[in-house]
Amino acid sequence: MKSIIGVVNPKGGVSKTTISVHLAHAAWMEGDDVALVDTDPQGSVLDWLRSRTDEEERPTDEEEGPTVVHEDDPALLPRKVQNLSQDIVILDAPAQLQEMTGQILSLSDLCLVPLEPSPLDIWGTEEFRALLEEEVSKETTVALVVARRDPRSTLGGELFSLAEDSPFEILDGVCQRVAYKRSMAEGETVLEGNDAKAKNEVRELLMDVAQLLSQ
Ligand SMILES: Nc1ncnc2c1ncn2[C@@H]1O[C@H](COP(=O)(O)OP(=O)(O)O)[C@@H](O)[C@H]1O
Ligand SMILES: [Mg+2]
Repeated sequence: MKSIIGVVNPKGGVSKTTISVHLAHAAWMEGDDVALVDTDPQGSVLDWLRSRTDEEERPTDEEEGPTVVHEDDPALLPRKVQNLSQDIVILDAPAQLQEMTGQILSLSDLCLVPLEPSPLDIWGTEEFRALLEEEVSKETTVALVVARRDPRSTLGGELFSLAEDSPFEILDGVCQRVAYKRSMAEGETVLEGNDAKAKNEVRELLMDVAQLLSQ
């Protein structure tokens, strides 16, 4: 059966694309059959793919990474996802709280919500939080993923206190590290670089995600 993972947050710059690409690449490296769907009209994953395949020394066939497709029309997304043959489908959401976000939430078995562990404005909008709670009531697993935390800090204390009485799972995600920015700009992921801590946190995130999917 196909597992569909949505990476959503209407706020921009919270690591949605970074997490989507890294999870897809990590799963692909483990031998999983994975498709990454860029639903952002800005096509950030496509930019990554372009840098990846522009590299002269890198073969351009799809065997060298996860399959990437683009669909930014919410009405066409369900059919597109349904027609994918891969076992794991990761949907990278755009920065908006409109039709596409709702569509991704309803298609996903697991919704990952990257959040920066800052005390202010953690949800962006209450509307979004309410939408997520509605998903949980439909028995979709929603996991808040701590993103861009300072590696010297402890795991987002504010986030934990916020999550205490909430129905959401909480996962430690990706710290703020130059390795993410640098590797993505070069069409790579940290899994191909030499920052061991970054590699480890991506692998651990993948394991946490796999565990949530198997529940
Ligand atoms: N953990 C991180 N460490 C360093 N830079 C990051 C990290 N996550 C994201 N960035 C950078 O921040 C910018 C926005 O990240 P992105 O993943 O595209 O966010 P979103 O998809 O939520 O808008 C990008 O330039 C990206 O390289
Ligand atoms: Mg993005």
